[in-house]
Amino acid sequence: MYNLANKRVLLGVTGGIAAYKCAELVRRLREQGAEVQVAMTRGAREFVTPLTFQALSGRPVRTELFSNEAEAAMGHIELARWADCVLVAPASANFIARLAAGLADDLLTTLCLATTAPIALAPAMNVQMWNNPATSANVRVLKERGVILFGPATGDQACGETGPGRMLEPGQLVEALTLLFQREDRLRGQCVLITAGPTQETIDPVRYISNRSSGRMGYALCKAALNAGAEVTLITGPVALEPPAGARVVQVRTALEMRDAVMAEAGQADIYIAAAAVADYRCAEDAATKIKKTAGILTLRLTPNPDILAEVAALPRAPFTVGFAAETESLREHAKAKLAGKHLDMIAANLVGEGKGFERPDNALEVYWQGGERSLPLAAKERIATQLMELIADRYHEKNKN
Ligand code: C5P
Repeated sequence: MYNLANKRVLLGVTGGIAAYKCAELVRRLREQGAEVQVAMTRGAREFVTPLTFQALSGRPVRTELFSNEAEAAMGHIELARWADCVLVAPASANFIARLAAGLADDLLTTLCLATTAPIALAPAMNVQMWNNPATSANVRVLKERGVILFGPATGDQACGETGPGRMLEPGQLVEALTLLFQREDRLRGQCVLITAGPTQETIDPVRYISNRSSGRMGYALCKAALNAGAEVTLITGPVALEPPAGARVVQVRTALEMRDAVMAEAGQADIYIAAAAVADYRCAEDAATKIKKTAGILTLRLTPNPDILAEVAALPRAPFTVGFAAETESLREHAKAKLAGKHLDMIAANLVGEGKGFERPDNALEVYWQGGERSLPLAAKERIATQLMELIADRYHEKNKN
């Protein structure tokens, strides 16, 4: 059996002595059934010739961003879309810094910026360069953005020093890539329905009641579900975010619109993730004309909105249902009460207020399910979303085994 059958691996080779090991890497990837397209930086070509990789990969090696001939065969955006995974091996300190800075000044950085496929780096550099705080900071930024690190290993280096900075061996890289694809495929063929953002509850034609949800968590979960191979429908309240490419997006404004959109989709969903901050109340009277200012107190009467999450969980053939609980205190008690009370499969709870949760790029979650719990410590919402999606996939498959 081929572990990487039909997987399309875009192998970026950057300038480091470990580049010579990538000839063996290409051979092994092909042996496992992968299609391999090599892209080399200028530095890499100082160590190995493109012809070596061309012979082993069976494809012309890409080296230039502005090459009429190569672009005519497959443009760089097309190439970025072609890849199921981008593996940069060896990843030099310079390349890592350029990726962290978001540069797109050569073919490989441009491909990394343009791809939605997972990016894995196999760093290879002198131990001092790896330990340098600048490199550590760059690696941290990249990890937060979901870039995956393979290695580096610790041991003897080509420069004569010993320590961390050695590129993993080709066999280890093939193994790591195989595991990555297994994880990536965990929700292939499953339909995931996600709600995100706030809702806006109409007061009159120009005013509404809303909340401070940015939608970032829901959008990051959408991306994580797509990365896990799922078919994703995102039902979103009004937010200032670009929906991830590949998701089917339904825009809504009010809680009632969100409920209608969710109930229309829930029957087909395998997993439902309620990340939206749905308004608990809407105005009892929806004024047809703008409410005039007067000197006296204005009273708005509010009526409860339907609890969409509880409605989905109560369906006869309910999807695997995941709720969120944003609390200002007693996180554990409230979250566990909601898990049981709404008959959920899982709940992800976070503290809000005092600079936590809303309107922030990072988050920390306490996740509970029947018979288990897990803490996901503070990290970028993208990273938290990937971890939560892995937990969801674990529990979902566990439930469906029985
Ligand atoms: O009970 P509480 O509103 O704190 O529960 C929060 C969870 O319920 C979130 O997952 C949210 O998306 C969902 N919810 C809902 N419909 C509502 C209110 C909350 O689906 N009307």
